[in-house]
Amino acid sequence: MTDTPAIAAELRRLLRHAHAPYSGVHVACAVESEDGRVTYGVNVENAAYPLGQCAEASAIGAAVTGGSTKLTRVFVTTSLPGLVWPCGGCRQKIFELAAEWCEVVSLGSEGDEGRQTIDQLLPLGFRLAPAQLRRS
Ligand code: THU
Repeated sequence: MTDTPAIAAELRRLLRHAHAPYSGVHVACAVESEDGRVTYGVNVENAAYPLGQCAEASAIGAAVTGGSTKLTRVFVTTSLPGLVWPCGGCRQKIFELAAEWCEVVSLGSEGDEGRQTIDQLLPLGFRLAPAQLRRS
């Protein structure tokens, strides 16, 4: 398990890689998987605003690309003061791949941090049971 201070330091470094010329808000995310791998992502905005991608989506995409699909911890840090929590859409993306007790850790710039399970952040999240999937 990578320790939180090492992940926090890497996230602070990665904030400068965010592509956020429109909002000016830089976000970096790390996703830890059950296999111990940690992948990183930043937000990538676009002049066609709705096409912008959250940092969580970038990090989750990197995890899945590497073959990791069970997330144990998700770390988020931003250029804003205070603690920031994933947007609703990203909560659903995390929920989809969350291991049991998957935790979201919000890291502030002053060394402050907050922790919430994904079930606290997204109670009654949307999930399709295998029996509900249509196969053709
Ligand atoms: N953003 C994220 O990267 N993650 C979130 O959970 C919330 C918002 C990004 C999207 C946009 O590039 C910027 O923050 C301002 O909304």
